Parts: sequence; C-alpha cells; structure tokens
Amino acid sequence: MCGIVGFTGNLPAAPLLLDGLHRLEYRGYDSAGIAVLENGKITTEKTVGRIKSLIDSTDNGKTVSGNIGIGHTRWATHGAPSLENAHPHLSGNCKFAVVHNGIIENYSTLRKELKNEGVKFLSQTDTEVVPHLLEKYYNGNLIEAVSKVVKMLEGSFALGIICTDYPDTLVAAKRFSPLILGVSDKGNILASDVTAIASLTKDIIYLGDDEIAVLTPDKTEVVDLSGKALEKEVSEITWDVSAAEKGGFEHFMMKEIFEQPKAIKQTLSGRIKNGEVVFEDFTLTADKLKGINRIVIIACGSAYHAGIVGKYVIEDMTRIPCEVDLASEFRYRNPIIDDETLTIVISQSGETADTLAALKEAKRLGSHVISIVNVVGSSIANASDDVIYTWAGPEIAVATTKGYSTQVSVMYLFAAWAAKHLGTKDDKYIADFLAEVKALPQKIEKILLQKDRLKEMAKRCVNTQSLFFIGRNLDYAVALEASLKLKEISYIHSEAYAAGELKHGTISLIEEDRTVFALSCYNDLADKMLSNIKEVAARGAYVITCANEGETEFEKESNQMIYVPKVHELLVASTEVIPFQIYAYYVAYHKGCDIDKPRNLAKSVTVE
Ligand code: AGP
Repeated sequence: MCGIVGFTGNLPAAPLLLDGLHRLEYRGYDSAGIAVLENGKITTEKTVGRIKSLIDSTDNGKTVSGNIGIGHTRWATHGAPSLENAHPHLSGNCKFAVVHNGIIENYSTLRKELKNEGVKFLSQTDTEVVPHLLEKYYNGNLIEAVSKVVKMLEGSFALGIICTDYPDTLVAAKRFSPLILGVSDKGNILASDVTAIASLTKDIIYLGDDEIAVLTPDKTEVVDLSGKALEKEVSEITWDVSAAEKGGFEHFMMKEIFEQPKAIKQTLSGRIKNGEVVFEDFTLTADKLKGINRIVIIACGSAYHAGIVGKYVIEDMTRIPCEVDLASEFRYRNPIIDDETLTIVISQSGETADTLAALKEAKRLGSHVISIVNVVGSSIANASDDVIYTWAGPEIAVATTKGYSTQVSVMYLFAAWAAKHLGTKDDKYIADFLAEVKALPQKIEKILLQKDRLKEMAKRCVNTQSLFFIGRNLDYAVALEASLKLKEISYIHSEAYAAGELKHGTISLIEEDRTVFALSCYNDLADKMLSNIKEVAARGAYVITCANEGETEFEKESNQMIYVPKVHELLVASTEVIPFQIYAYYVAYHKGCDIDKPRNLAKSVTVE
C-alpha cells in the first residue's frame, strides 16, 4: 500500500522525509521518491526499489536542501514500477508536486480531457491528473485550486501537495484513504499513518474525508471544501507505534483478513459503471470473445481455488465450457489449446514459475491470455495479452486471504462482462448481480464480527490429527481453499471432498469424533448436503456446518453452526471463505505456530 509523508518546518525536510518513508516500508512498496521545495524550485529524487538507494544517492537527504517537502512509497496499481511512475508527480509548469495514496477512479476520463487540451503525461499513473488539474485551475489561490480539483475526483485518495508560489505551505486532502497530521514545535508533518510521524511528535490530528489541511511551520489549519475553517481535536498517541505496522493485529494474516472488505472495494472500483463491467484498455473485444469456444483457467494453490470458483460462475453465466488446471500439470501435459481457447491465468504475486511457464505455453499455442494479478508490472502481467489487476494491496502473510478474495471478485466481474457481451444474461440480471457483488464488502464486515466466537471454536482442533471439509458445487470450491488454509498454517492434515464423492471410498475414514466441516451455503444443493451431513453424522463425525443466516435445517444434524449473511447464489465463495480463514488462523494461533511464515513455504514460488 502506498505511503505518504510531508513536512514543513525549521529543519531540513529531506532527511525527515526519508526517515518517514523508511518507517512506512512495512506497508510494502516497489519505488519511492521525494520532492523538496527551495528558492521557488522543486527538486525531485526517485528510485525504483529500496529506499536505501534513495538515502545513499542523496547522502541521507543532505544533497536535497529545503525545509518543505513531500515523499512517497509507491505500490504500483496503475502503471508498472518505474522512475516515471514513481511519485511525486509534477505539473507541466513544475509549479506543483503531488503524492497520492489510493485510486482515482475517474482518472481515465480526466486524463483524456487533459490530453485533448494538449497536456503531456509523463507517467501511466492515475495520480498524474492531479498536478495537471491543479495547474489548470490555479489562479493564485492554492486552497481554492485544491478544493476544486478534489471535488472533481472520484474514488479514494490521500494527497500531499506543494506549490512553488507557497514557499512554506504544505497542503493535504483526503477521501476514504487515511491521512494524519502531526503537530510539533519543530514544524508540522503529515503521513499515511503514525509510524512515520512518531519520531517527531506524538500530537496528531486525524484528517476527515473531504477536508483540506494547510500546514505551515507554526500552524496547522483544516478547512472543508467550501473553505470554511474546521475545529480539529489534537490527540496524543499513547500506544505502541510499532503495533501500527500490523494495524494493531498480532499477525499480518489477521490484518489482511480484516482488509478484505476494503481490498474487494478497491478491486471493484471504477470497473462497474451503469450496471455493467468496464475493463479499461482490454484488447479482448466482444467480437473476439464470440469466437471463443472454451476457457482454460490456470493457476497454483489458492489462486487455483479461485479459478475453480471462476469455473462455476463463468459457466453458469456464459455457458462457455471452462476447465481449471494446475499450472504445474498443464505445462507438461501437451495441452489442447488453440486460438479459439481463452486462457485465464491467476496469480497474486505474478511471479509463480509454473504459472508463468503455463502462460507462455498457452500463448505459444495461439491462445489469448488474460491474467488476474495483484503485483503490477510482474512477469505474468507483462507476458499477458490483457491484465486485470486485483488491487488488493501488498500481501505479506504467506497464507493468502485478501489475494484470494480479490481474485474471486475479478472472476465475478469477468463472468458479468462476458455474459453481457455474449448476451447470455439480460441487462437486468447483470445489473442485479453486480449490485450484489458491490454489497459483498458490507456483508464480509459482518462476518468479521464473529472473530471471537471462532477463536473459541478453534480450540477444538488443537490436538486434531486429521479432518475433512465437504461441500458441493461452489461450496466444494470453498472447501478446497478452507482446507488448504488450515493445513498450511496449522500443520493439521485435512482433505476437501466433493460431498457426493465421500461414499466412493473416503467415508471409511469417518469415525467417532472425526471433525467434518460441512459447507452448505449453495442453496440449490442444500437437500443433497443435508443427506451427506446425515451420512457422516451417523458414523460419529463431529459436524460443524456453515450455512446462510436463517437456514436452520442443518442444526439438528450438526454439533456446531457457523452462519454467514445470505448472498446471490453465485457469490457464496466470498462470504463462506471468511470464517474458515479466521478459524484456520486461530487453530494455528492456539497451537503456537508461526502464522505469517509457516514452515517450508515461501510467499512467491519462483522455482519449479
Ligand atoms: C496459499 O495461501 C498460498 N500462499 C499458495 O497456495 C499460493 O496461492 C500459490 O503459491 C500461488 O501463488 P500466486 O498467487 O502468487 O501465483
């Protein structure tokens, strides 16, 4: 996630900015930069890679003099990690420098308008529209220009701005992205979170949405978008700042579980317009899509499980046959692929060696390849014909949670996009479906409230040797992911089974007290699941059933219940997976496992 820092005061700005950026490193980033203003001139320094090289190249900020500046760590969303895309971004006349965190959803419309007016863009970022708009609307009053531009922006953003006409004034504004102001007698500071501020001061002000902060060395003022002054409370940080890195959670995994509503919102942002899906810069046209007779989805691990969800949803909505393959199998099985096959590759890291090799094989055989990737500019993204980024933000825990959830969300978007262009679902169906997709973050928030109950429930499995997850259709797809989550971090043997398949052999393993998680949110098959639950319960299994709120018919046959809010039938994976992520986390927690770095595993598997 990008990080912002800004300073104006009586000290050299660059060393403070670099120190702040260094403290924001934990958020994950791929490039960084600072802009310092002195004698009416803005000097920028940028790097791709570590902040250390920025520190070295500027002799720890000494070569960039000036007492006011802004800095940024970038985690790419729009445009690959590069010097051009690194922040701060300047206006054409070099009067304004801007750093930005978040996503400006209407940037492409704004960019097109500015380009038509002759503005030259130097980056692919959504951010660069901001300095150009400031230049366009500035008539000598910086706050008025900022206010005007903020009103034009859609999406989530936190902005830090300096202007050569204002030698000691730092301006900030935000909507939906955090921004904190720090007040001190050495100067005033702003940052994405307190970690970057705490070395200078413990007195902070939380900037609200659609508020503008105006910082000078000895004053911090906040106004609303009409310019009216606002009273803001100064609070003192009394808690351990290092805890902020994990958002107050003990592990990145739990932090990332709780980030899922926001990550999904970001993934959907700007992609649902007037009841339909829009993928900017897609080269797969509607005509080309009509010539596709088969879809092959390729991935590894959890991304493969997201692909299985995709298969169910895409086939249901488009009626195009869809296969899901493990990348490590696909690449060595002489696959049948041609130019009428569409290949969808899924990877959080964008660097998984097997997935990359499978992608290349599919391309060699003539297939159009779309990748669903989180890391912008990664090898898989670069090798694909089209990329749909998941915009989940950096994922640090080895066990993926928000990566998986955002991949699944993209599957919904793709299915709706394809159904629209193929005419397999009418406009009303698609608009209603997308409205339900948009409502998912809110429903997930509700499930997260069950954390403490799941923590208690998870104690049951601490000494368990082996257990089962069963489900049908989309419930089965989630069972696969729930099972992987549990085994990778808690080291308990677990198997996910298609519930109807148990009786063909595996049911012999069901004995007294064997834990069986029954996933029963996919309503169409509720009766069948009830029979499968009865089958295992009759053989002594301890059954924990996950069902939709209000569907109490499973209670009689189950030892424990987990309820999730009801959603559209095709979206159950998004809600149902959440309690199992939390459950797995707490089993590992109670066992004292190394949750964020489970044994034998790596976050990015770049070897075969
Ligand atoms: C799941 O929690 C794992 N971290 C793993 O299965 C992962 O999904 C797999 O290695 C694929 O990684 P990718 O999405 O980066 O390609």
